[in-house]
Amino acid sequence: MQPSVIELSIIVPTYNERDNVERVVAALDAALPGVRWEVIFVDDDSPDETFRKVCSLAQRDARVRCIRRVGRRGLASACIEGMLASCAPLLAVMDADLQHDESLLPRMLDALRSDAADLVIASRYAEGGDTGDWSAERKRMSLMAARVARWTLKTELTDPMSGFFMLRRRCFDHCVERLSGIGFKILLDILASTPEPLRILELPYRFRTRQFGESKLDPKVQLEFVWMLCDKTLGRFVPTRFIAFSAVGGIGILVHFAALWLLFKIYLLDFLVSQTGATLIAMTGNFALNNAFTYRDRRLRGWAWLRGWLSFVLICSIGAASNVGVAAYLFHSHQERWVLAALAGVLVGAVWNYAVSSVFTWSVPGRMRP
Ligand code: GDD
Ligand code: MN
Repeated sequence: MQPSVIELSIIVPTYNERDNVERVVAALDAALPGVRWEVIFVDDDSPDETFRKVCSLAQRDARVRCIRRVGRRGLASACIEGMLASCAPLLAVMDADLQHDESLLPRMLDALRSDAADLVIASRYAEGGDTGDWSAERKRMSLMAARVARWTLKTELTDPMSGFFMLRRRCFDHCVERLSGIGFKILLDILASTPEPLRILELPYRFRTRQFGESKLDPKVQLEFVWMLCDKTLGRFVPTRFIAFSAVGGIGILVHFAALWLLFKIYLLDFLVSQTGATLIAMTGNFALNNAFTYRDRRLRGWAWLRGWLSFVLICSIGAASNVGVAAYLFHSHQERWVLAALAGVLVGAVWNYAVSSVFTWSVPGRMRP
């Protein structure tokens, strides 16, 4: 059998990392002498044109490859596409900002070559590891997120949120169809999606300080983390979008009562007028929240926002009517058990609103529209 041409593909997601990519290649070159490796940068069309820099490096060094994704964003999905573009038997994922210590790569590689593990995780929290000079706040948040992840995954791993790891491509191939691809946490995604138990080894390392460029971890990324955990737990039973839609609906009830109180009690308007006004305000709030969060990947803007709002209000009005209809019917036919009747009505209304708005308000571009 011929030895594989490339043994190890290192996937490096990038967004505005122009000043780092050349340093990453030099660091890999120094860290992996005698290894047949390649590096695949997956760039989401960075405004700073990181992809140009990568392409010019690739012109000089055949071990460097570039995938430029246009109109897409996301660390986890970028890693998945990078791994899919590789045919090497071993895959690694590493950040582009030199915060991950590349000198750990040979030991990670050895563990896979000697069949001591299927997946090797570089851990900041294992004995001997360190998060470097993080603020107390960031450290606390990271530890808390790791605890939640351990709890949902039922794992003992010290750093299930690490962005630095190496695994057999066979293990990736086995879970790729189940991956969520949402947010930052690609390792967590793999751990939660693998159909067979993996033999995992953690190696400690010290997280370095970023020298060039900025971190992309923002509140949106944190929300995506919650989304992914939902997807990996409750998502097996109910679509995660429906959970988010219902959570927004719950907030809508609070908005409704706040608006009603304002209109009816403070502005002393007629009850029917106040109730109608509060309903409209709550629907508009729900629409805005769903547009920004539940359907952030199909977000409507400008005129499409207005059209979407109109369709949402119409759909929810029908939803409210069916809610009341079902509840009234059950109330009379089931010995006036009002709580159950009301809950059934709310559920029917919510499912209707969700199902119909997913098709008409936030239709999948190019599929539902002629
Ligand atoms: N292609 C692509 N698309 N790459 C991205 C995107 C994106 O939308 N967002 C971030 N990246 C790249 C960055 O350019 C960098 O190479 C890497 O992903 C990590 O991004 P940072 O913004 O530096 O993240 P961090 O240092 O805050 O977070 C790191 O530590 C976390 C643990 O606390 C990452 O390694 C996370 O994966 C890890 O969970
Ligand atoms: Mn970083």
